[in-house]
Amino acid sequence: MKSFASGKIILFGEHAVVYNRPALAVPVTQVHADVEVLDSPHKGIFIHAPGIDLHAELNSLPADHPIASVILKLFQRFGISQNPNLEINISSTIPVASGLGSGAAVSVALIRALSSRLSHSLSDDEVNALAFEIEKLHHGTPSGIDNTVITYNKPIYFIKGQPIETLKVGKPFTIVIGDTGISAPTKESVGDVRLLWLRDTTNYESYFNEIAQIALVARRSIESGKPELLGELMDQNHALLQKLTVSSPELDKLVQAARNADALGAKLSGGGRGGNMIALADQAQAASVAQALMSAGAKRTIITEIA
Ligand code: MEV
Repeated sequence: MKSFASGKIILFGEHAVVYNRPALAVPVTQVHADVEVLDSPHKGIFIHAPGIDLHAELNSLPADHPIASVILKLFQRFGISQNPNLEINISSTIPVASGLGSGAAVSVALIRALSSRLSHSLSDDEVNALAFEIEKLHHGTPSGIDNTVITYNKPIYFIKGQPIETLKVGKPFTIVIGDTGISAPTKESVGDVRLLWLRDTTNYESYFNEIAQIALVARRSIESGKPELLGELMDQNHALLQKLTVSSPELDKLVQAARNADALGAKLSGGGRGGNMIALADQAQAASVAQALMSAGAKRTIITEIA
């Protein structure tokens, strides 16, 4: 059984979404996690994930290991007490801890491949709920946006705990993604924002409200076919993320380089402190924006069209 799941990028609303404000996210199909589950002649469940140098039998891993926990949760869910003999191969082109949803994509692909092999069919809602449980194990207080956009593989307007809403894209637009190459676990930036919010609740609540307003206007711009308005909104959202302390000199440098290269706007994306930024560009300008990001130190770029 094989399954794969795309990466994701947040367009607007990261961090504020943890505090019940709306956020917008889209799949990034250029990068993906792939999982293959095969029957094995050997006793036990062997996991191979060469990208993270993991070659191990399930029982030799701690129960809270990110991959073992997905498998154990599924077995628990299906009432399986006797482990089948399996070989599980996991590979991913999604850089880890970079805001592209690598952990959630591996969880979703693994849940789908393994449940098919075990002849249990799961609905998207069930896959999403299981992937969210795994996210909670590893990411502190996640909003659930990563597992949701990755499970449904569609542009979404997301509010924590509410039914998902698909974004209707009125007119396609182009996003350039630039990677600082600095891995920055989301758990840490989300934890830091929580401490700052506890200390300075009034100001942080008002930053979150401003971000929410931006996400609402962005949704309207996307749905009414005026994506060119998103550039200015990205700039505003980035300024607020700087106030939340989740930007970094490297992110700011790439954001500025994109703007200098005639991007319509730019912002960091995801947890921040490292990882990726995004820029809105006219389709014809996208390659030169990507080139400018590389010259400014990006480790790689992805040009993606949101349609
Ligand atoms: C991570 O992709 C986005 C954050 O808002 C965290 C979350 O929503 O769980 C930073």
